Amino acid sequence: MKRNSSPGWTLLFSTCILVPAMELHGQEAVAEGQRSTRMGVYSREQWMRGRDIYAGMCAGCHPATTHTGPAFTVSWAGKKLSDLFGFIRERMPKNDPGSLSEQEYVDVMSYMLRLNGMPQGVEELPADSVALTRIRIDSSRVAPPAPVQR
Ligand code: HEC
Repeated sequence: MKRNSSPGWTLLFSTCILVPAMELHGQEAVAEGQRSTRMGVYSREQWMRGRDIYAGMCAGCHPATTHTGPAFTVSWAGKKLSDLFGFIRERMPKNDPGSLSEQEYVDVMSYMLRLNGMPQGVEELPADSVALTRIRIDSSRVAPPAPVQR
């Protein structure tokens, strides 16, 4: 599958810059103005809406295992949420890309974070690709994925 950015480079970059910083400051070691998906960036209501969308629009083609656990980490760790948002918005559902509303895409993305063991918070993820550039996908200390909820 083709993507615009080079995952190798991103990985190298985050390994050099983030790892030493994380050792010093633990969870707060995200660059200034940046948040990570470990910080409770979506709400319960949001992922529950996303779960319904996922069941209706996504689950018919792929099981959650295609984008949870190691598969998710390989593709998305260290990237920005805006990258994942852009991917699903432009490419999914595969048979009718772009057919959901922006709100539906961001809701379904929150459910993907849920499936990957990212904690829920009180605020919703905004359907705003600029705001989403400021949230990093951090799957470094992720617990095993939550059981698939249908
Ligand atoms: C018609 C079948 C189909 C539907 C419906 C579909 N997908 Fe996909 N999806 C695919 C295929 C095939 C791939 C493999 C990559 C490619 O061909 O672009 C994929 C890949 C993905 C990936 C990339 C996996 C990774 O991390 O490398 C994500 C994320 C994803 N789909 C999310 C979704 C979401 C969210 C929905 C619902 C809105 C959805 N898909 C609906 C067929 C589908």
